[in-house]
Amino acid sequence: MLIRKALITDVDPIHDLIQGFAEQGLMLPRNHRSLYEHLQDFTVAVIDNKVVGTAGLHVLWKDLSEVRSLAVSTDQQGLGIGHQLVVATIQEAQRMGIDQVLSLTYQTKFFQKLGFILVRRDSLPHKVWKDCVYCKKFYQCDETALVYYTRSGVAVQQKIAD
Ligand SMILES: CC(C)(COP(=O)(O)OP(=O)(O)OC[C@H]1O[C@@H](n2cnc3c(N)ncnc32)[C@H](O)[C@@H]1OP(=O)(O)O)[C@@H](O)C(=O)NCCC(=O)NCCS
Repeated sequence: MLIRKALITDVDPIHDLIQGFAEQGLMLPRNHRSLYEHLQDFTVAVIDNKVVGTAGLHVLWKDLSEVRSLAVSTDQQGLGIGHQLVVATIQEAQRMGIDQVLSLTYQTKFFQKLGFILVRRDSLPHKVWKDCVYCKKFYQCDETALVYYTRSGVAVQQKIAD
């Protein structure tokens, strides 16, 4: 399995992967325009030349970034791919010198295992909620907010070396 930054030819498979879970209400949809515009945010997991997972790191502010559009194809889940994708986004944030990586998610335990810490949603700056206007659950958001503090990044580095 290869973890690498996304290429332009990955946009269609990334779109299809996200769309399937978005239709189940598990994550926000992404249209092609949004994927092309933000392609540099994306990392993919590839097996046999097929994109089987993806994650985006969106920079929100000088001290805050967000993991978005995390998805692993159903037949490859539970094999550590989601973990490796999130570690890659955390390392990217660390390289850029960004202190925090946010996740708004239903997968609370998955992120906690990676060292993300629960935070109060009303403690987050308003800019975090900008894209929520596209969400059907805008008025009844039930996602959990978690933050990874990149300065405590020793654990994530060690996990990768294991
Ligand atoms: C959430 C998701 C990305 C996890 O990817 P994955 O490749 O299956 O996860 P991993 O195999 O890397 O799991 C890492 C660890 O988290 C645990 N885990 C994974 N999903 C979990 C869940 N839903 N609840 C609790 N633990 C979970 C695994 O058991 C594993 O634990 P371990 O290290 O003790 O073995 C994947 O299930 C998915 O794409 N779901 C649908 C889309 C979605 O919900 N995306 C998240 C949007 S924020």
